[in-house]
Amino acid sequence: MKTYKIIEGLEQRYNQYTAEDRLVWKTLFERQMQQLNQVAHSSYLDGLENIGFSAYDIPDFREVNERLRKTTGWEIVVVPGIIDQPNFFNMLANKQFPSSTWLRKMEELDYLPEPDMFHDAFGHMPLLTNPTFNAFFQEIGEIGKQYIHLPRIVEMIGRIYWFTIEFGLIQSGKELQVYGAGIISSFGETKYSLSDVPAHLPFDVKTILRTDFDNTVIQDKYFIISSFDQLLASTREIKDELLKAINDVSVPK
Ligand SMILES: [Fe+2]
Repeated sequence: MKTYKIIEGLEQRYNQYTAEDRLVWKTLFERQMQQLNQVAHSSYLDGLENIGFSAYDIPDFREVNERLRKTTGWEIVVVPGIIDQPNFFNMLANKQFPSSTWLRKMEELDYLPEPDMFHDAFGHMPLLTNPTFNAFFQEIGEIGKQYIHLPRIVEMIGRIYWFTIEFGLIQSGKELQVYGAGIISSFGETKYSLSDVPAHLPFDVKTILRTDFDNTVIQDKYFIISSFDQLLASTREIKDELLKAINDVSVPK
């Protein structure tokens, strides 16, 4: 996977968004909200409102940062694309969310070679307003930072990240709902993830740490949390299990 270097002081060039960019944002936003109002967790929907996103304006990160810093201590830092793991974990640990600023084209609404701003902003940022969720997010950064020199362990942490922050589902009463940014920012996957086609498994740290995924195809399984409290509380078990894996001499380091 191609990764980009962090460029200090990179900013969103807000006045350079084109009419097509604004149309892409509006089209994706409206299309997604028709589904998400029914099936996204209330923390996401509340977060979307609190962070001030709408179909009519591409988010201005200066405004987003003003709100986020005041309410959560988090901030958005502009990056050119996917960044390397040490920087990524460091940023999360420092309550910084790396985000791209470019938008896909009208003819590629459903196809994305790399995450664009619709994924990064619309998918990820609203839940940053939830203190329990963002504490988990930060903790993943802390854990990743600690084990960055051990690729096998980083891979396991990546699985937790993948099956929660990107592709997590949550049980809310009788309703199965979406909260992972990879699902939330995808029209097809929102419907698919809640359908009877993929496997729906209970959130289980030990299982997830040992479950491979393929980021080039649609998922065949999703793990379901019962609450964000459960997610945050799981960091203790994640740390214990990683320590066990490090001490397991039968597995190559
Ligand atoms: Fe993402």
